Amino acid sequence: MDKVVLAYSGGLDTSVSVRWIQEKYDLDVVTLTIDLGQERELDGVRERALKSGAIEARLIDAKATFVEHFIWPGLQAGAVYEDSYYLATALGRPLIAWLLVDTAHEVGATAVAHGSTGKGNDQVRFDVSVATLDPDLRVIAPVREWKMTRDAELEYAEKHGIEVPITKESPYSVDENLWGRSIEAGPLEDPWQEPARDVFEWTVDSSEAPDDPAYVDIEFESGIPVALDGEKLDGVELIQRLHRLGGSHGVGRTDHIENRLVGIKSREVYEAPAAEILHSAHRELEKLTLSKDQKRFKNHVSNAYADMVYNGQWFSALHRELAAYLKVNQEHVTGKVRVKLHKGSCTVVGRESPKSLYQMHLATYGQEDAYDHDAAIGFIKIHGLSQQTQARIQLGSPGQTPILQTPADDE
Ligand code: ARG
Repeated sequence: MDKVVLAYSGGLDTSVSVRWIQEKYDLDVVTLTIDLGQERELDGVRERALKSGAIEARLIDAKATFVEHFIWPGLQAGAVYEDSYYLATALGRPLIAWLLVDTAHEVGATAVAHGSTGKGNDQVRFDVSVATLDPDLRVIAPVREWKMTRDAELEYAEKHGIEVPITKESPYSVDENLWGRSIEAGPLEDPWQEPARDVFEWTVDSSEAPDDPAYVDIEFESGIPVALDGEKLDGVELIQRLHRLGGSHGVGRTDHIENRLVGIKSREVYEAPAAEILHSAHRELEKLTLSKDQKRFKNHVSNAYADMVYNGQWFSALHRELAAYLKVNQEHVTGKVRVKLHKGSCTVVGRESPKSLYQMHLATYGQEDAYDHDAAIGFIKIHGLSQQTQARIQLGSPGQTPILQTPADDE
């Protein structure tokens, strides 16, 4: 029998999928569970897959790859979708797709499968990535196809002796990995409704955060975080520590209306303490080490990169080009940033760099001032010349304040 590799989380949807795919498509199912740092318990997940009918169940720890090849590039790019979302799920999907394709080749499967619904961005990311990596692989998305309600799924599970995972009944749809946690649906579908307390698991409410602030020093080398408070750490550990620290001070919550790729506006709540802290620190270090022109241009790249990731175009030529730009762009983004965490806020309070473009002898109002004040006079004359000329010729006679007069006032 032909085989399919199913991305398997261990939850109800994917457990039911194992059996459903066998019945509907007559395929042997190999499950693939990928540890991207989600808090969900992965002990016993392989056994559960086998009990649900899989012929083989694999588990891959991809945390280090996720950090090195997906999270850090996103951070270096300054990629924040619609100024709000640090892209945890969106960065994880292409890695999962890649491992699905790899595993399919290893076990000789003709298809891969994932548990995405037909309304979200994730189906797009999976389908586009898989089709790019191997156009001959068929993609099956049971949840998109079967249109079962939760009750129908439970009934199906019972009928086929599929063990229903014992998770507490939750009205929300949650996805999480090392970089962040997303919560949607249920009561959150009303954009006017404040998120209830049970939405959050990684962060405390700012009213319950400690009265005293915490400080953390983050060191970057070429745009990549390498140490906290002077201690060198590998990426996974560094992110996990910042999650705990930031979360305990209520840092990293987002609640916004997001434009999905499939044309829907959705209300999304996120918890991403490490991402918020690291993006804030990294952005500030760039202000110290990139020129004004570089930083202006970088803002365009950040938006392009965020859209590229969000829209499932990880395996695109555009990505290669943006990555090549970032390699040079981040070269001198090296140094240390001090961040203060207090009652839900994350504020940069100090920064230093061996490559700093901030020069005390130019900036100071004190004794060491080496700036040429006389040169400013000539510069200002030239800088203001075109505006002055235009005001005189087109905007009214001297003595009037042209900017306060709109055409409508003239009538
Ligand atoms: N809106 C986010 C995104 O598109 C989060 C999606 C979360 N996925 C999920 N299956 N709950 O990346």
